[in-house]
Amino acid sequence: MTQNTGRMAARMDHVAMSPTMKGTIEAQRLRREGADVVDLGAGEPDFPTPAHICAAGQAAIDAQRTKYTANMGTLELREAVAARYRTDYGVEYAPEDIVITAGGKQALFHAAMGLFGPGDDVVTHAPGWPTIVEQIKVVGARPVVARTQAEKGFALTADLLLSSLTPGTRGMVINSPGNPTGALMSEGDARVVAAEAAKRDLWVVVDLCYERLIYDEVPHNLPAIFGEALRDRLILAGSASKAYAMTGWRLGWVMGPRVFAKGASALQSHTTSNASSISQYAALEALTGPQQCVTDMLLEYQRRRDQALAWLAEEPRIRCSVPQGAFYVFPDVSEFLSPDGLRTSADFCDALLAEEHVVTTPGEAFDAPGFLRLSYATSLERLREGLTRMIRFARKHAPK
Ligand SMILES: Cc1ncc(COP(=O)(O)O)c(C=O)c1O
Repeated sequence: MTQNTGRMAARMDHVAMSPTMKGTIEAQRLRREGADVVDLGAGEPDFPTPAHICAAGQAAIDAQRTKYTANMGTLELREAVAARYRTDYGVEYAPEDIVITAGGKQALFHAAMGLFGPGDDVVTHAPGWPTIVEQIKVVGARPVVARTQAEKGFALTADLLLSSLTPGTRGMVINSPGNPTGALMSEGDARVVAAEAAKRDLWVVVDLCYERLIYDEVPHNLPAIFGEALRDRLILAGSASKAYAMTGWRLGWVMGPRVFAKGASALQSHTTSNASSISQYAALEALTGPQQCVTDMLLEYQRRRDQALAWLAEEPRIRCSVPQGAFYVFPDVSEFLSPDGLRTSADFCDALLAEEHVVTTPGEAFDAPGFLRLSYATSLERLREGLTRMIRFARKHAPK
C-alpha cells in the first residue's frame, strides 16, 4: 500500500492560481472598514443581464426544465449558435459540431484536453489572459509565448506568431479581441497564419469570448478566414458571458470538426455532464431574441473607452494604446517605477489600492510587467473618480 504523503499529482505543480484574487480580497477588507473603493479590476460587465434573458431563465424554472439535458446541450441552443455564426460570419456548422459548455473557459479547456498533451508546443501570445497558458500547462503541453508590442498597439501579427513556431508545435491559441489589450488580429494577418498553419497541419483555437465587443467597424471575420484554410483543424470558442452580461450563468460553446465535438462531448459527459439547463434556455433567448441590448452596451463601453483614454492622456507619462475591443485599457506605467520607489507594476497596483483605494490588475497577471489593466466595466462617474485618484498617485510617486 502506498502511503499518502499529501503530495498532489505532478500536473498540479504547473498550475498557478489567478493572481488577480489578491487585490479583490484586499478591496473587500477595505470596504468592510468603510473605505470608498473604486473597482477598475472587474473582468465582467457591470450591466445587469437583460430582462428578456432573465425572464427566459425564470420561465425555464417554472416549466420544470430543471433536469439533465443532452451532454452537448439542447438541440435548439446548438441550432441557435449555428444560426448566429451563419448570420455573423457566413460559416456553416451543424448542431452536431457544437458543444454547449459551462462558459468559454470550459470550451477552451475541452480544446486543450482534446488536442494537446506532453511533448507538444502550443503557441499563444502575451500580454494575454492567463487561463490560456495555464490550461496548456495542465494538459502537459508547453506554451510558447509570442510577445506583442505596446508601440504597435499590441498587434498580433502573422510574423510574430509564425516566428514562434517550433518543430514541436502542434497548434496555437489566439484570443481576439484580446484580454487585457483589446487588440484585434487583422484579417490580413489571419490569412497568412491560416495558410501556414494549414501547410503544417496545426490546430488553431480561436477564443472569441469578446467577439461582440468590437468598436469602430473593424472587419474581424476570423471564423471564415481560418475556416477556408483549415476547417478540419479549427476550433472556435465562444461565450454568452460578456456580450449578454451573463458571466454568472456560466454558458459558452465550442465548435469544430465533428470528431472533436464528439470527444469534447464525451469528456463533458464524465465531468460536468451538461451546462445548466436553465442557463441554456436563457442563452437561447439571448441568441435568438432582440439584439438591441448588445448594441446599447457596446455604445456605452465605447463612450467609456474614449473617456478613459482622454482622462489618462492628462498625464503624458502614462502611455496607452487604443483598444479596439473588449472593455479594458492597458496603460504602460513603467515611467513611475524605480529601484528606490515603486519597483514593479505589482507594487504600483498594491500601493494604489492601499493609498487611494483603487483596484486595478497588475500587468504581471498577464505576463506583461510594467503595465496595469483598468476595466471600464463601471460607470463613467466611478471611472472618472478612479482615474483622477490614479493620476494623483502616479504623480506623487514619479521618480524625481
Ligand atoms: C479572453 C477570455 N476568454 C474567455 C473567457 C471566459 O469567460 P467565461 O468562462 O465566463 O465564458 C474570459 C473571461 O474572462 C476571457 O477574458
